[in-house]
Amino acid sequence: MKLPVTRIQARNFRSLEQVDVRLGPLNVLVGPNGSGKTNVLNVLRFLATTVRFDLAAALQEWGGFDHIQRQSVKLGDVELTIEGLVTANSTDEAPDRYRLVLSRYRRANSVTRHEEFTFKCSRGRGRRITVSGDRVTIYEGDEETFSRSLASNQTTGLATLPKLSDREGGLGIRSFTEFLSQILVFEPDVSAARQPARDYGATIAQDASNLADALNRIRMRDPDSWKLLSQELARCLPGLQSVQLVPVGGAARAVSVQLSERGVAAPVDLADASYGTVRLLALLAALREPDPPPFMAIEEIDHGLHPYAMDVLLDRLRAASNRTQILAATRSPTLVNRLRPEEIIVCDRHPETGASVIPAISSDEIASAVQASEWGPGELWFSGVIRGVPA
Ligand SMILES: Nc1ncnc2c1ncn2[C@@H]1O[C@H](COP(=O)(O)OP(=O)(O)OP(=O)(O)O)[C@@H](O)[C@H]1O
Ligand SMILES: [Mg+2]
Repeated sequence: MKLPVTRIQARNFRSLEQVDVRLGPLNVLVGPNGSGKTNVLNVLRFLATTVRFDLAAALQEWGGFDHIQRQSVKLGDVELTIEGLVTANSTDEAPDRYRLVLSRYRRANSVTRHEEFTFKCSRGRGRRITVSGDRVTIYEGDEETFSRSLASNQTTGLATLPKLSDREGGLGIRSFTEFLSQILVFEPDVSAARQPARDYGATIAQDASNLADALNRIRMRDPDSWKLLSQELARCLPGLQSVQLVPVGGAARAVSVQLSERGVAAPVDLADASYGTVRLLALLAALREPDPPPFMAIEEIDHGLHPYAMDVLLDRLRAASNRTQILAATRSPTLVNRLRPEEIIVCDRHPETGASVIPAISSDEIASAVQASEWGPGELWFSGVIRGVPA
């Protein structure tokens, strides 16, 4: 699989004063509370909202520019850059690159943006498109080939440039913006996931509020995958016999989940199942999505799960990462113990400036520490050997 995100760089974004994170097919951000794990995922969440609804709406969703910009003694421009292999001609040596710079324009108390898209065209030359003020400029190699004005200096190129013709680079931009808008930042809302869901045959929602429908879709589209999902759940839940999806009556067609447990006379509705059961079911459903998104971020992946579930979860994460690039966040040494050094991204905070230090240690250094010790990476992390623990 071509990895859609190989690198995330951020400057002055919330706690991320300056970070440069390289990604593989599966990575897990590991670190204490407040170290910046969610903020790394937030970079992608912010760009995904910007591409869907434009900059003003994205800033509003976050409570305004002050909540995006790192609040420190010296305020700096917010810079977000992502690199990856999204467009047809991208290669490891010439990845696609998108950079967004947001600055506060003091006098007008408004936010200005500068953007740069870089990607390779079929004719082999690199193409660069910049958006500054109300001006779009297209370069091929170093040569300026085209310049025109945008309707507004507030709208982003992410939101408007997909309308460019293919000759002007519209195709490359469209693949890129389509990718950004498909990013799934998965954070199950367990109460919502317990409810029956309308039978739409939809992909799983980012809060898993349509869990029953998403499971039904897996059952209809890929019965073998559905069977394996039930087995994975049973491996984690002693006493579970089977999972059923049952239609719920009424005019609106809906479906609900029931679990049959050993020694319990009637099936248990998901509404009455344990918290961890619902959460695990939601994760397994997302990781068995028949049409997976190109990139999935998963918040607090271990939350609510027994250590025994980690093996099943990790097997599933690795299998799913052949089709979807995955970036998860955790605080669980049990999960970290099972990870390979190259899958771990340790997050820490600078003792004086409070800025996030990510990665706090390289994967080679983690590998050496693991080799030199009898402990696994989770124990090394928890004991402070590979950093990422509260000072
Ligand atoms: N605009 C901002 N400027 C400076 N720091 C900020 C800003 N917004 C948020 N932060 C800081 O970012 C820090 C990291 O938050 P984040 O949510 O990424 O942590 P986390 O590693 O996900 O923690 P947890 O394990 O608790 O979920 C918080 O301590 C918060 O104070
Ligand atoms: Mg967090």
